[in-house]
Amino acid sequence: MKDLTPQKDSLDPIEIASRDEISGLQLDRMKWSLNHAYANVPHYKAAFDAADVHPDDLKDLSDLAKFPFTTKQDLRANYPFGMFAVPREQVRRVHASSGTTGQPTVVGYTEKDIDTWATVMARSLRASGTRPGDVVHVAYGYGLFTGGLGAHYGAEKLGCTVVPVSGGMTPRQVNLIEDFGATTIMVTPSYVLSILDEYRAQGRDPRESSLQVGIFGAEPWTNAMRTEIEEAFDMHAVDIYGLSEIIGPGVANECVETKDGLHIWEDHFYPEVINPETGEPVADGELGELVFTSLTKEAFPIIRYRTRDLTRLLPGTARSMRRMEKITGRSDDMIILRGVNVFPTQIEEALMATPGLAPHFQIELTREGRMDAMTVHVEGTPEAGPQLVKRIKETVGISTNVVVEPDGGVARSQGKAVRIIDNRG
Ligand code: DLL
Repeated sequence: MKDLTPQKDSLDPIEIASRDEISGLQLDRMKWSLNHAYANVPHYKAAFDAADVHPDDLKDLSDLAKFPFTTKQDLRANYPFGMFAVPREQVRRVHASSGTTGQPTVVGYTEKDIDTWATVMARSLRASGTRPGDVVHVAYGYGLFTGGLGAHYGAEKLGCTVVPVSGGMTPRQVNLIEDFGATTIMVTPSYVLSILDEYRAQGRDPRESSLQVGIFGAEPWTNAMRTEIEEAFDMHAVDIYGLSEIIGPGVANECVETKDGLHIWEDHFYPEVINPETGEPVADGELGELVFTSLTKEAFPIIRYRTRDLTRLLPGTARSMRRMEKITGRSDDMIILRGVNVFPTQIEEALMATPGLAPHFQIELTREGRMDAMTVHVEGTPEAGPQLVKRIKETVGISTNVVVEPDGGVARSQGKAVRIIDNRG
């Protein structure tokens, strides 16, 4: 793999500014953002008043802890446009996340917000090793989902040639990567595995492709999966994080030179990690729920949004901005099996460490009498099944069933993978 470390002078100066400079900017912007939300969104006025806090009470960044959280429920209660802080006519675009239950969550962007988003996405691409002039194949879904258009605007802003393929039609994905000479691919980690299968089905060697960088996110994936993908394609694989409520993809991104967790673009998104039970902020380095406050967004300011994503904050390395560790999982996806907490990423780790198994899996939950049971569906050699049972028992501490399906027997993803099938009734 090529060394793709970006030149220092190609970075935004704030990426490598001093911590004091970063906190000074954050404080000014946080004051603006709290005032903007309070003055223009009835929900925030009511929530701040009920908590007896006012934007003027923020003298220091740590004062943010006095302000109330915002949850998905709050966004649903204000469906569709109730959380917007500017007249609807100034909203140039909306996106929405489907959500498995209830109302979708609608978010909006002014012209300036779209430019901010393109800027942080261009920064994310550059951190990943993509350069102006590269051919960027975007296989994230276009539409109300933020993945496709977010990647698209960022790649254009960086000066790349964008191929807006969106998800699906996997044989065509391979043909276009090959014919157009894509150097960067942006796609979910589970869908790139389907693309990898298709390379092999077409008798092509993925290591011979023009791809140098893959920017993977929108769902959890492990470092073991990174190694698998990097070796299969002979390209760098880096992690990108984001969520529609905060802006979309481009909230945080790994740097290709270190691949040690995701640098949060802290000049636009202020992170906290809290204890999900008490709501108290925890110290950097401790595991908890990630919470974000937007510092510059106009149409949809968001104050202390509870993401339900579990991670820890770490000091900066390749950039001055803090890092978040690769996400362990969402609190919603945590399975409690006979008293043990289990995340799909732990099953992925065990699977990747077991020789003879393909990187596809799905977890089925059933009820046997009064006990919950877990079956992991995989593909590979029959002998690998019992080995996976043993490894999960040793590393995660739970007893599972493993079913080795025929090739193609585990449902393939074209976007975000469905990891858990809950048949507990
Ligand atoms: O998934 C935005 C996105 C698009 C991010 C493309 C990266 C690439 P939502 O549909 O609103 O937005 O889903 C957000 O997806 O709260 C996490 O649970 C999960 N997620 C996103 N990126 C990662 C990641 C987009 N790198 C939700 N690792 C978030 C783990 C991720 N989980």
